[in-house]
Amino acid sequence: MITKQAITAFSSIHTPFYYYDIELLKKTLDIYTSYIKKFNYNAHYAVKANAEPKILQIIQKAGLGADCVSGNEVSLAIKSGFSPSKIVYAGVGKSDKEIKTALKAGIFGFNCESVPEIKVINDLAAGMGKVARISLRVNPDIDAHTHKYISTGRKEDKFGVSPWEFQAVADELRNFKNIKMIGLHFHVGSQITDMSVFPMLCKMIEQLQQWFIDHDINIENLNLGGGLGVDYENPTKNPIANFKDYFELIHKHLIVRPGQKVHFEPGRAIVAQCGDLISRVLYVKIGQKMKFVILDAGMNDLIRPALYQAVHAIDNLTSDKKPLKYDVVGPVCESSDKFAHAILLPETQRGDLFAIHTAGAYGQVMAMKYNQRDLAKAYYSDEILKK
Ligand code: LLP
Repeated sequence: MITKQAITAFSSIHTPFYYYDIELLKKTLDIYTSYIKKFNYNAHYAVKANAEPKILQIIQKAGLGADCVSGNEVSLAIKSGFSPSKIVYAGVGKSDKEIKTALKAGIFGFNCESVPEIKVINDLAAGMGKVARISLRVNPDIDAHTHKYISTGRKEDKFGVSPWEFQAVADELRNFKNIKMIGLHFHVGSQITDMSVFPMLCKMIEQLQQWFIDHDINIENLNLGGGLGVDYENPTKNPIANFKDYFELIHKHLIVRPGQKVHFEPGRAIVAQCGDLISRVLYVKIGQKMKFVILDAGMNDLIRPALYQAVHAIDNLTSDKKPLKYDVVGPVCESSDKFAHAILLPETQRGDLFAIHTAGAYGQVMAMKYNQRDLAKAYYSDEILKK
């Protein structure tokens, strides 16, 4: 939450910047981990959502492991204190170098996405005298009812192994001496707000794992991935994701066999709401059809609206004048550099401070230097707010 004290502190910071509410992050983690403990589940934070070292350290201290999608993420997670025994590594295109990094580190397991990949991991592990633990990422052909760019579990998506390939995997596993299959992995999409997707996933997991049980392949671990959505429209009203319904639904619908461990890979639901992109108004411009608020933050700082047509709540932190309708845009030379269309905001002028909310996940981490713009820095509530 952005307090009056925070707004005063913002006035002396160079904009744009990311602001993280550490208290909210810790509260979110407290609630999340209470469910993980209650149901005896395991959690691996999806490092891709936000990889700021300070954030990683807080999440690691809360007891989560790490879910990585590159060799560099594996190295960063280890550097941030995550035990390799709590690191999982997914991704459809793991390079030899990345696989070796993970093998050397002795991670908990690879989430494998294709039969050719398993062969490469086997060969590399053999060369290093190691046995790689793998879970098979399965594409269950489930529509997560989210944006098409962040749907990952439909049959047209590039992720995971299809059920018709199970026999080939089982045959190969018999030949691969440097692979130990330890489980099944699923991740059907991100920003899932239709809760009926999760019971459906549980039902599919039960059907799919039966194939392996029937073929005498022990499934010790079930990994359900991430995906739980957050409230982008009303972040102040709902600062914490609906972990209660999520875990209760999964507990009710997932059939867990004796000795089986259940894993999750939350990203967005942990970090989205604790981050805001803070920006200053450069100009207010009267266009032919619209009034434009031109911010000093652009799509290079937060690409979600341009890439996924994502709607982030926006506030003018320094005006309480009567509302007017504006388009809120950035300075980048693209018409897609638009944060909001025709929204009501208090009458705005040059120098006003704006907050673009729910920017903690896939915000700073996806920033780029397009137009040779500087990368926005991170500031933390526990550092800038004097007690
Ligand atoms: N596990 C795997 C294998 C994943 O690919 C992802 C996210 C997660 C876990 C974490 O999912 P989450 O709990 O955050 O939904 N840049 C996009 C989101 C991409 C998600 C990629 N995979 C966005 O800004 O919406």
